Amino acid sequence: MDLAIRLDSNAPLPLHRQLYEELRQAILTGRLSKGKRISSTRALAKSLGISRTTVTLAYEQLISEGYLQTTVGSGTFVCSQLPDELLNSAPLDSFSEESLPAVQLSNYGAIIANTEIPYYQQPDLPISFRYGQPAFDQFPLKLWRKLLSRHCGSELDWLNYATDAGGYKPLREAIASYLARSRAVQCEPDQIIITSGSQQALDLVTRLLIAPGDGIALEEPGYPGARYIFLAQGAKLYPIAVDESGLVIEKLVNSSQKNIKLLYITPSHQFPTGAVLSLPRRLELLAWAKKMGTMIIEDDYDSEYRYGERPIPALQGLNHSNSVLYIGTFSKMLFPSLRIGYLVVPQHLVSLLTRAKWLTDRHSPLLEQKVLVNFLNEGHLESYIRRMRNHYNQLRQVLVQALRTYLAQKVTILGEKAGIHLMVRLNTKLSDEEIIYRAAELGVCLVTAQPYYLENKPRGEFIFGYAQLTAAQIQEGISKLALIVTE
Ligand SMILES: Cc1ncc(COP(=O)(O)O)c(C=O)c1O
Repeated sequence: MDLAIRLDSNAPLPLHRQLYEELRQAILTGRLSKGKRISSTRALAKSLGISRTTVTLAYEQLISEGYLQTTVGSGTFVCSQLPDELLNSAPLDSFSEESLPAVQLSNYGAIIANTEIPYYQQPDLPISFRYGQPAFDQFPLKLWRKLLSRHCGSELDWLNYATDAGGYKPLREAIASYLARSRAVQCEPDQIIITSGSQQALDLVTRLLIAPGDGIALEEPGYPGARYIFLAQGAKLYPIAVDESGLVIEKLVNSSQKNIKLLYITPSHQFPTGAVLSLPRRLELLAWAKKMGTMIIEDDYDSEYRYGERPIPALQGLNHSNSVLYIGTFSKMLFPSLRIGYLVVPQHLVSLLTRAKWLTDRHSPLLEQKVLVNFLNEGHLESYIRRMRNHYNQLRQVLVQALRTYLAQKVTILGEKAGIHLMVRLNTKLSDEEIIYRAAELGVCLVTAQPYYLENKPRGEFIFGYAQLTAAQIQEGISKLALIVTE
């Protein structure tokens, strides 16, 4: 196969995923023609200087999606008939200079074209430790339907454009009161802007505050969803180490001669290590931000789920110098396709952010905002969170116990006190790709922590989401992992 393939072992995307994308683009743009025989896994691995497992993983994904097919004894071929919709979507998916010579991209477009942003959900395996989704089967569907139909009866106002781009006033009032109770956030309802999830909140703030070349400090490891937004805006990123008490403030202070305009942090439940930023560090951080004139984005994405420990007040509530922009979301509390999050901003930024929200998408859907008002004001949210905290706590205990039983000395567990995932360090000589591949063969989907690191990507760190699994699935999944790691 005579094809230039670009792989970058320092990129956030795992090598097998990069190879998959390269081959997929080559098929969609016709550089690998239909029916063409491609190299064997062994030959391609050798020519690219990567492991055969990496190539096998990429090939298997392409086979399962209908791009490649194998014929026993003859080898692997590009399918002679690709699904029409794949062919039709080719120009949209392939931004590369070769395939779109006429398009002159903006700086933003060019950065996105050159950044591997995983915008798809991979197909799942029977037991998936993928992180991110709450337990859908526990969601109070009947109640949600009842609340939806309450507003869909004869009300017509939700069909119209909203009167305020910043969000439905009763919802902002309900959120302000919920945040004051549960997170010690101090704000007036008009300081709350309703956004399309945390992602839009991050995007709006970054576009308004960051010019290309501005410095942003962020946790290492950290949340790639935020990192991609910062990169797309042309920011210069300063990764700051995290330990068991959260962001290491000393490292931040030592790097402060650089122009750090913004700090992005997940203090309640550091993503993905799960560390909780201690109170002394919170106070130190706020003092540093005040001295440096740095704004802080506090992403409180799953702070509702804590097990046994009293919550530490949000940075926003401890701060008296208007330097914190607080972000929350209903994606973990309720469900991610709701696409409702919120941004709590200092008074002097309210008008600016509201105008930016209006420019972007006018406002968030009104019907769901109305339903959320009932959900919050009638006490459903807090009782649902209490119920789910018990549910997740039980699953978490099963997972921790299974890890300790099956993997014993081979595992270190991190961040088990909060959230709906935890992180582990496996003591093994196997590469992450090898472990993922072998687990997949046993029907278990594992998630390596490597893409969450910007610089030195350690081996053997995995993120375990458990919210959508049963206790039996967790035990089975970990016992299968033990077969791989302890053999
Ligand atoms: C750190 C962090 N922030 C925010 C989110 C949620 O994003 P959204 O509200 O856009 O669904 C996630 C989801 O995985 C996350 O891990």
